[in-house]
Amino acid sequence: PDGHIAELVTRLVRDVPDWPTPGVVFKDISPLLADAAAFAAVVTDVARRAREAGATLVAGIEARGFVLAAPAAVAAGAGFLPVRKAGKLPGRTLRRDYALEYGTASVELQPEVVRPGQRVLLVDDVLATGGTAQAACELLTEAGAQLVGLHVLLELSFLGGRGRLGVVPVTTSAVA
Ligand code: PRP
Repeated sequence: PDGHIAELVTRLVRDVPDWPTPGVVFKDISPLLADAAAFAAVVTDVARRAREAGATLVAGIEARGFVLAAPAAVAAGAGFLPVRKAGKLPGRTLRRDYALEYGTASVELQPEVVRPGQRVLLVDDVLATGGTAQAACELLTEAGAQLVGLHVLLELSFLGGRGRLGVVPVTTSAVA
């Protein structure tokens, strides 16, 4: 990973102990987003990765993945695709249920938005157990996308999420 971006992520992502449940240390990217130069640098870095991977669509996972993926898509000259928590998207959707560190959740996307074989970079803020990213990857593949990679700002390597993502190339800005 780029040393400057890694330093920004390490310095500006805040640990919140026991949130949203006891025993979980939540990684809060809000201080990074509130720092204009840091936010711009991170978005520029994600956009470069999207361009270099030839992605014409950048997918973001609700909610914090949206904040990174949408501006990166614009900067890369790509479109944006929302992967949303269940029940939010109209029309035909594909859905995956998955387990979280704290409970269960479901994500959905609109398959009609993806062109067959379209190159898609998936983006999120944090890779923890990998359940969310795995579900999103499966949805994109089912929708006919060519998934060129997953990029996350921060990988919590001790939770082993990367191991659930199979052949998808995973890149990170920083690792904890
Ligand atoms: C967080 C984070 C990732 C996911 C990572 O989202 O933004 O999407 O958890 O966890 P995992 O690797 O163990 O699946 P959260 O579920 O808190 O949703 P939110 O962004 O809508 O608050």
